[in-house]
Amino acid sequence: MRATAIAQPNIALIKYWGKRDSDRNLPAVGSLSVTLGSIGTRTTVEFDAALDSDRVHINEQEVESVDRRVEKCLDRFREKAAIAHKAVVTTANDFPTGAGLASSASGFAALVVAADRALDLNLGEDELVDIARTGSGSAPRSLYGGFVLLENDSDDGIRCGSVLGPETWPWSIIIAVTSEAPKKVSSTDGMELSRTTSPYFSRWVETHDADLRAAVASIEDRDFEKLGELAERNCLKMHAVAMTSRPPLLYWSGATLECAQNIRELRKSGVPVFFSIDAGPQLKAFCLPDNSEEVRDSLESVPGVLRVISSELGEGARIVE
Ligand code: PMV
Repeated sequence: MRATAIAQPNIALIKYWGKRDSDRNLPAVGSLSVTLGSIGTRTTVEFDAALDSDRVHINEQEVESVDRRVEKCLDRFREKAAIAHKAVVTTANDFPTGAGLASSASGFAALVVAADRALDLNLGEDELVDIARTGSGSAPRSLYGGFVLLENDSDDGIRCGSVLGPETWPWSIIIAVTSEAPKKVSSTDGMELSRTTSPYFSRWVETHDADLRAAVASIEDRDFEKLGELAERNCLKMHAVAMTSRPPLLYWSGATLECAQNIRELRKSGVPVFFSIDAGPQLKAFCLPDNSEEVRDSLESVPGVLRVISSELGEGARIVE
């Protein structure tokens, strides 16, 4: 009753920000992401009848109180397998946890794939998507590799799948880490605050589908410039909504903004590159492999950048043991 899975974080090009149903963790908008190849989460799940409660170890430390979202996911598997066994979940990230690098996405994707195998359930993809979604809205995207689309469906749920595999259109992603500290306001709290207080939230939702459709079309056309334009603007729209929440949410540091200007300058000089920022101070730059060294060198030179992580596109979550 034990299995280990690896999942990789994903970064949204068209963002998810806001829930239409908080209890069921359903997103207000669809999203489009790329799955990373070089950093990941490794999670072992072991169900054990002798345990009296679920236990979670993150990065070699046992957590004092288990996250309710983890218990909810495990409950779904217990229900499917018709057992009451509690579980030990041992998970490790090889990148900063909770700092806007999508650790919840890769964490929950690895958890559901490992739990499914530990209990030999062989659930279908739709069921894994649905269970991953109860943990974190962006987690279903890490079940898949390459370019991934997550959409609301007509049955009041979501569907998720790969639009293009990681080898079909190779990209480089360069992450400028400007802080290793966990963020002060979680994505869940931040997006709920935006939904209830930002005057721009309704416009964000109304204009979102057009961004999503145009982005999918530019992936189909392999139009890097168009996709970059759409993604950078969609990211700034999300942050405009966050910044106009009450109290305002400012996820950027000075170095984040310096990095954004650096990428814009680089683009002006003729390098095809664009950026995105999530609910944390790290900046993510996207370019084609031929330009990755140049982009990396440029971001490394920005004051306040602690380190730079380079990645190619990666595969979806998978069993390793
Ligand atoms: O999946 P969550 O609840 O961590 O939310 C992710 C929110 C953003 O990273 C800011 C945007 C996204 O689509 O990944």
